[in-house]
Amino acid sequence: MSIIENALKKAGSQGLVVESTGNSISIKDRDSVSESSSSVSGAVDVRNTASLLSSEQQVIINWRSLAENGFIDNNNAKSQLAEEFRVIKRPLVNNIQGSENNGINRSNLILICSSLPGEGKTFVSINLALSIANERDKSVLLIDADVEKPSISKQLGINSPRGLIEYLEDDKVTFSDILLKTDLPNLSLITAGKRHKYSTELLSSQRMYLFAEEVSRRYKDRIVIFDSPPLLVATQAQILAELVGQVVLVIAAETTPQSVVNESVAKLSNCDVVMTLLNKTRKEIDIYGHNYSYGKYGHL
Ligand SMILES: Nc1ncnc2c1ncn2[C@@H]1O[C@H](COP(=O)(O)OP(=O)(O)OP(=O)(O)O)[C@@H](O)[C@H]1O
Ligand SMILES: [Mg+2]
Repeated sequence: MSIIENALKKAGSQGLVVESTGNSISIKDRDSVSESSSSVSGAVDVRNTASLLSSEQQVIINWRSLAENGFIDNNNAKSQLAEEFRVIKRPLVNNIQGSENNGINRSNLILICSSLPGEGKTFVSINLALSIANERDKSVLLIDADVEKPSISKQLGINSPRGLIEYLEDDKVTFSDILLKTDLPNLSLITAGKRHKYSTELLSSQRMYLFAEEVSRRYKDRIVIFDSPPLLVATQAQILAELVGQVVLVIAAETTPQSVVNESVAKLSNCDVVMTLLNKTRKEIDIYGHNYSYGKYGHL
């Protein structure tokens, strides 16, 4: 039993355990999703969301820089990393497809978080978004909700004058003002926007709740991925976790202590689905009877 399974067991959490390295991965089936529901409540006001997802703004992703930095290379659909993310996305997508039966609220909203900085949240967010967007019948909206330390724009090599913070701060800013289409037809983006000293309050505002509710309800076929700050460093990830249907807790293998994982899992106890993803592992893992070879961390 891995450290992660122990941590989950101790904390009484349920979900799936996924292990990924950038080089290797395994998924272990655990119990089915928790019955608990989100603690966020409130009436839905659709007045400011009428233009949702009708953006004409387009950005071009710097694919070369992405590939050079070790992300999924769209010219190499057969790479090991691409294969790993096919495995990682499957249980998340299955939860969305079965959500009418399994009772997961806002199952198409997925938060990528971790306990500490540098565990691989942004790496996972971008690769997961690319992997899902490459499916013919799926659309992805990738949102940089790490508003204190945004990095998605930099990694993708794009610029936007306005992002999530501007939308939350100003009622006059609409969804279409912040929504960016990309040159990957099924992928849209929302950047974090400017730094704001009350960003935590903005993320916990009614306007943010309405945004989450509306994007989930109206666009059931669209998968929304939120990149977030570390859970144990800022309160923002915990706030965001209450808005989404599924949470992926990224854990840096051989680095993050079990006590830290336990603390994070406890903070996520209100979430419908918590999936743990063991990142940066080095050992050889057997997936479905196949041995996947290992390189060093960072060698793809
Ligand atoms: N599985 C992996 N294979 C190769 N490189 C990885 C892997 N996971 C993360 N990295 C690299 O590790 C570094 C830290 O990852 P990343 O920026 O995604 O962490 P983070 O959790 O988002 O950090 P922060 O909390 O600072 O936002 C990056 O250079 C990233 O490209
Ligand atoms: Mg990050």
